Amino acid sequence: MAKKPPGFICTECGAPSVKWTGSCGRCSTWGSIEPTVSGVSGAAATDLVALSSFDGSQAIPVPTGIGECDRVLGGGLVPGSVTLLSGEPGIGKSTLSLQMARSVAASGASVVVVTGEEAPSQVAARASRLGTVPPTLCVIDDTSIEVIEATLHQARPQLVVIDSIQTLVVPDIDGTPGSVVQVRAAAHRLTDLAKSTNISVVFIGHVTKDGTLAGPRLLEHVVDTVISFSGDRHHDLRFLRTSKHRFGPTNDVGLFEMTSTGLRGVEDPSARFLADRCVGAPGSIVVPALDERRPVLAEIQALTSPNGDRPPILSNQGVGASRLKLVAAVLEQRAGVKLWGNDVFASAAGGAEVKDPGADLGLALAIASAVTGRAHGSEVVACGEIGLAGEVRSVAQLDRRLQEAHRLGFRRAIVPSSAPDGPLGLRLVRVSTLGEALAAVNLASV
Ligand code: TYD
Ligand code: MG
Repeated sequence: MAKKPPGFICTECGAPSVKWTGSCGRCSTWGSIEPTVSGVSGAAATDLVALSSFDGSQAIPVPTGIGECDRVLGGGLVPGSVTLLSGEPGIGKSTLSLQMARSVAASGASVVVVTGEEAPSQVAARASRLGTVPPTLCVIDDTSIEVIEATLHQARPQLVVIDSIQTLVVPDIDGTPGSVVQVRAAAHRLTDLAKSTNISVVFIGHVTKDGTLAGPRLLEHVVDTVISFSGDRHHDLRFLRTSKHRFGPTNDVGLFEMTSTGLRGVEDPSARFLADRCVGAPGSIVVPALDERRPVLAEIQALTSPNGDRPPILSNQGVGASRLKLVAAVLEQRAGVKLWGNDVFASAAGGAEVKDPGADLGLALAIASAVTGRAHGSEVVACGEIGLAGEVRSVAQLDRRLQEAHRLGFRRAIVPSSAPDGPLGLRLVRVSTLGEALAAVNLASV
């Protein structure tokens, strides 16, 4: 019987190759090339099964009771599903998962946390900081996959949290805990267990500073849902986002603030971002931005500082560096705003993250206001993407953005010329070019 020659695959990024190499040609990881299982022609055929004979109504999420998590998960955790919660060390993954575990256990359900990183007493200390600890919340203080599997088969909890997937030990497989092969094997075995027992499993996975999962990127293919937890560790704001979700949409964001008693959901992010706004200061404007599909108002601030006769050095915080570069270039070249001889600082105030191109217009108006020292009216918002010709282009979900601006009491919005009518009480100023936008806020003569 003819066998196909074995191929090879990178266990880090999944790149196929025909021969073994010491490092991957695509992602450059060393020691990640492994043979794929060779296919045997002539294997026994399997039966075809009509798709309609399967019950497709199973994917009903069970709420975790943590509102911002349920929002991102599309309602909650689906029984038998596997979710990867990733994030940098220290960002709050253990805290968030423990809060989810507590909340699910508070309804009387059995929940298990595998404490591979910390001693149970440390986990207990953290849990008591978060509030009362339900009696149905238990721990497994062991990292052997076989012990964990046997215990879960017997206990049949509703939810198990693995903190973290990088600490598990799979016997008979090479590599130390946390290595590519170990993490992948552990994830496959727990995924099989989740599917066969209907237990919801949450893996915690550390990512390195550059944002890659420390371990196989292939893990993302194994699990049903990937949620990532991020934020600036020096601020208390945290963002929860989905990058993959088999059971629902992937475009929502959950916001939390880290307090001394755990993570608290931020129900009104716009109000939070605008709370300390310095009304009437030059260089500031509010933009109705979109974070995933959630409209959030944020204050964009700009400051210019003379640097002699040099080209501007651009510094950004909370706004995209490439958007800032583009906006600065278009301001100079298409709208006659002179930035030469000034360094430009631009930020989204209050820890907001505004990466959406719809914030371009606000960024441009904030910089123009900083250069002239003339403030915008405090009741105005601006929204539009800026093109290289200096045109103001339409943006996604403008109606929802304007509703949010109206809800927070804004009365005037500078918008692209194609904008449909906004909510009653919000006056729209439609502009086709950046020059028209500058004129609309009395900054045209800079
Ligand atoms: P942790 O959940 O341990 O992070 P990770 O699992 O992602 O490594 O949380 C880390 C930080 O959160 C730590 O610096 C302490 C802080 N923290 C609070 O500020 N308040 C709290 O109630 C808790 C439990 C932690
Ligand atoms: Mg942790």
